[in-house]
Amino acid sequence: MEFLPSDYFTYRDNELYCEEVPFREILEQYGTPAYVYSERYFVDRYKKFDAAFAEIPHRIFYAVKSNFNLSVIKLFAELGAGADVNSMGEYLRARKAGLAPKDVLLTGVGKTDEEIRRGIEDDLAMIKVESYEELRAVNEIARELGKVAPVAVRVNPDVDPKTHPYITTGLKEGKFGVSPEEARRMYADDSLEAVKFVGIDTHIGSQISSVEPYVETVEKMAATFRELRDAGVPLEHLDLGGGYGVRYENEDVFPVEALAERIVPILKPLECEVYFEPGRYLTANGGALGVKVLYVKKAGAKTVAVTDGAMTELFRPALYGAYHHVQPITQTPERDFLDTDVVGPVCETADFIGRGRRLREVRRGDYLAVCSAGSYGMTMSSNYNGRRRAPEIIVSGAEVRVARSREEYDSLLWDEAERLG
Ligand code: LLP
Repeated sequence: MEFLPSDYFTYRDNELYCEEVPFREILEQYGTPAYVYSERYFVDRYKKFDAAFAEIPHRIFYAVKSNFNLSVIKLFAELGAGADVNSMGEYLRARKAGLAPKDVLLTGVGKTDEEIRRGIEDDLAMIKVESYEELRAVNEIARELGKVAPVAVRVNPDVDPKTHPYITTGLKEGKFGVSPEEARRMYADDSLEAVKFVGIDTHIGSQISSVEPYVETVEKMAATFRELRDAGVPLEHLDLGGGYGVRYENEDVFPVEALAERIVPILKPLECEVYFEPGRYLTANGGALGVKVLYVKKAGAKTVAVTDGAMTELFRPALYGAYHHVQPITQTPERDFLDTDVVGPVCETADFIGRGRRLREVRRGDYLAVCSAGSYGMTMSSNYNGRRRAPEIIVSGAEVRVARSREEYDSLLWDEAERLG
């Protein structure tokens, strides 16, 4: 039995299905490359995460950066989630998907004045600040607007999340957040009459696969939280950010219940609301990128399968050397296994989907599913090499709907074309 990262993409009679729909049917109808999402996966994962923390007052702010399709945001909003947005663009997406400003929090290490102004004007749930200078800027902008901005300082607990260095965010020398000492100075600054400290925030990294870094973080944050409250700061929430790891390969990843078991006892006595910002946990394994094999050739001892999917649809392998499982859409038990590099057509050696994969011989015209593409696939996509963004298809039971169509060449060209004179 081959490893499948998600129970929502399974084989029946050698054909890969997404829920009740043969993957092949979707790709034949909508073309490749195409992102295919399982709605049930999203719903079930959300409920699982929510249920794990039922014992403490909590709110889930879905990290829109993982998958910003309006239908996906809307789905989580309907389940009760708010949104964690990192920019005006993500904010406008959250609003368009139906979220009220009070259900949105604004994150980001480098917010523009325009983003901060809009956040304050619209009365967002909270604006995170990641430096003293930003805190002063928020205060200044709120003062100009005659309002009081709800703020949480992002504290850097100096915990190693043991993940890829590019997605490690809570170490002392990183660009994110401030040290606990700096945070104490910020919370104690009573010259800032246009900000209200409503909470304290952290986020130590992404794709974290063990509970230990979280336990250490929660212990440190709980201590700082208490200290601040004792000093008279009326904190209402503690925001733990996101980063909850998922299975890409056959690796061990903690179940969310195991995390809850360890951190709920530390959080409960604080008697505050706990915020979570999961992204990948909710979306990664709910998506697969369907691609088609264009050509197969030999390169030395290797077999190279060139597909029509590329780093433009899934940047993670090129950027982090990330593993994404590759599955045939149709299993071919009669064919032999070959060591295969699955690559894209973009003119970069880094444009690969998977290297050295033990796959049954693939042939021109075969379809492949690149797994775990529900997070940081479309949101990190690009038009490099003049490519169009791929469609996003949502499957729910036996139903298939297009949540975003394939980008048109015209919409890529019109603005520049009009300026040619
Ligand atoms: N909250 C904050 C403040 C964040 O910066 C992030 C992710 C999240 C929540 C959600 O993290 P998640 O639960 O999805 O791990 N492009 C990378 C991941 C970058 C994550 C950036 N921040 C990747 O493809 O692995």
